[in-house]
Amino acid sequence: MTGLFITLEGPEGAGKSTNREYLAAKLRAEGIEVLLTREPGGTPLAERIRELLLAPSDESMHADTELLLVFAARAQHLAQVIRPALARGEIVLCDRFTDATYAYQGGGRGLSHQRIAALENFVQGELRPDLTLIFDLPVEVGLARATARGRLDRFEQEGRTFFDAVRSTYLKRASAEPDRYRLVDAALSLPQVQQSLDALIPEMLERYRG
Ligand code: TMP
Repeated sequence: MTGLFITLEGPEGAGKSTNREYLAAKLRAEGIEVLLTREPGGTPLAERIRELLLAPSDESMHADTELLLVFAARAQHLAQVIRPALARGEIVLCDRFTDATYAYQGGGRGLSHQRIAALENFVQGELRPDLTLIFDLPVEVGLARATARGRLDRFEQEGRTFFDAVRSTYLKRASAEPDRYRLVDAALSLPQVQQSLDALIPEMLERYRG
C-alpha cells in the first residue's frame, strides 16, 4: 500500500502554516491518517540542520553549502518519516519540499537546475510529490507579512530580486507540469483561501483512493 504525498509551497508570508493545519483537519475528517510535517526539518536531526540554514550568521553561507544542507536534511526526513508514512498508506502533507530548492537555491541563489536535479535523483530516487499546492502572492505582500511577524531569518533578509526569482521559478514549474501543481491565490482573505482549498479536497481524495 502506498499513500499520497502532497506538498505545500510558496514564499514567506503566504499562510502555509495556518492552511496546512486546515487541510490536515479536513482530510482527517474523512477518516484518513495524515502526517503533517515540514522542510527543512521533520526529524530532530533535520530540525538541527534547519537551525543552521535559517540562523543569520556573520559568516556568509556558500550557496553549495546551503544546497547540500537542504538535501542532507531531506535525506534524513525521507528515511525516518516520509517513506515510512507513505508505506503505511498515509497522506503525507509536507510544508515545502524540493520545489523550494528549485525556487530558493535555483531561482534565488542562481544554482543550476542540473545540479539540483542530480541531488534530487540521488536523494529521492524516483520519489516525487503526487500533488503540489503553490500558495502564490505578490512579492511585496509576502515580504510585508513576513516583516510584520518580527525577526527575519536568513532567507527573509533577502531582497526583492531574490523573491521575484523565487516566485517566477514556482510559477514556471507549475505551468510546465499542470497535472502535479495547483495554484492557490494566497493574496485573498483567509476564508477565501480556505474555500479554494475545500475545492481541492475531492481531487485529493480521488487521488488517494483511486
Ligand atoms: P519556512 O518553512 O518557515 O517558510 O522557512 C523555511 C525557509 O527555508 C524558507 O525561507 C525557504 C527555505 N528553503 C530553501 O531555501 N530550500 C528548501 O529546499 C527548503 C525546503 C526551504
